[in-house]
Amino acid sequence: MLNFKKSSIFTRNAGADDMPPEPEAQGGILAVWGSPGSGKTTTALEIAKHLADQKRNTVLVLCDMTAPMLPCICPPSELECDHSLGSILAAAHVSDPLIKHNLVTLKKHSHLTILGMKKGENEYTYPPYSEVQAKELLDGLREIAPFIVVDCGSYIANDILSAVALMEADSVIRLSNADLKSVSYFSSQLPLLRDGKWDADKQYKVASNVKPWQAGEQIGQALGAVAFTLSYSRELEDQYLAGNLLADLALKDSRPFRREIEKIAKEVFGC
Ligand SMILES: Nc1ncnc2c1ncn2[C@@H]1O[C@H](COP(=O)(O)OP(=O)(O)OP(=O)(O)O)[C@@H](O)[C@H]1O
Ligand SMILES: [Mg+2]
Repeated sequence: MLNFKKSSIFTRNAGADDMPPEPEAQGGILAVWGSPGSGKTTTALEIAKHLADQKRNTVLVLCDMTAPMLPCICPPSELECDHSLGSILAAAHVSDPLIKHNLVTLKKHSHLTILGMKKGENEYTYPPYSEVQAKELLDGLREIAPFIVVDCGSYIANDILSAVALMEADSVIRLSNADLKSVSYFSSQLPLLRDGKWDADKQYKVASNVKPWQAGEQIGQALGAVAFTLSYSRELEDQYLAGNLLADLALKDSRPFRREIEKIAKEVFGC
């Protein structure tokens, strides 16, 4: 497997960061999907960060081509290079070297890399791609890293990469807010996914960004039984606003959220 940090060849055996990882876990592709604004990007990033903190090589794929999120998650100075997901999907054939070349590595996180659109880019920056490139990208990523977390878009009818990721993923978490918009979203979009490869058994329903006053009855009424509940964290919201989601969550306020992310990672990846 690729050792992501570009400079790591020079720091081998240099310190605690080079300790061997925990015993093998199951790995695979997790698609994080859900209604618009439900917390998909935030949650996908926190799961990826949690895995990378345990020294698991993890790729986070940010599918959003309408509001590229790569420029929003950390200051540009923390990125080791400047590449785009668009250059991969633009190729007639997506090879492993092409994917590796376009992975964005990070100065402070040696086990995490990101693929996403760059600031200012949109759907028309690159030539159109099809399911072929999307599938080749996901297959290639499986060869490159054991853990892949895909931040899917909500508009799956127009977003080939997200739609293919939902079909190809080993697990899917479905984020909903405890509101009628989320209920309406799923009743509108789930029929689009009625397909042989859309496996209901690999899905986990998650109530996301749940405020203290939304506990219990309200969630039950809106969403039915959920596997996980991600609570609202002020610290997380502040990090999002500051464009600094890669920073550690340390405050007491985010503890319930962090605990639930750990539970999801354990259920999905066994670690
Ligand atoms: N657990 C949480 N605690 C606090 N704020 C949250 C939490 N989850 C999401 N948010 C906030 O909700 C907003 C939307 O989050 P995010 O961008 O991750 O959602 P999304 O589903 O990816 O949206 P989009 O549909 O636009 O891609 C942000 O302001 C984010 O800070
Ligand atoms: Mg998003």
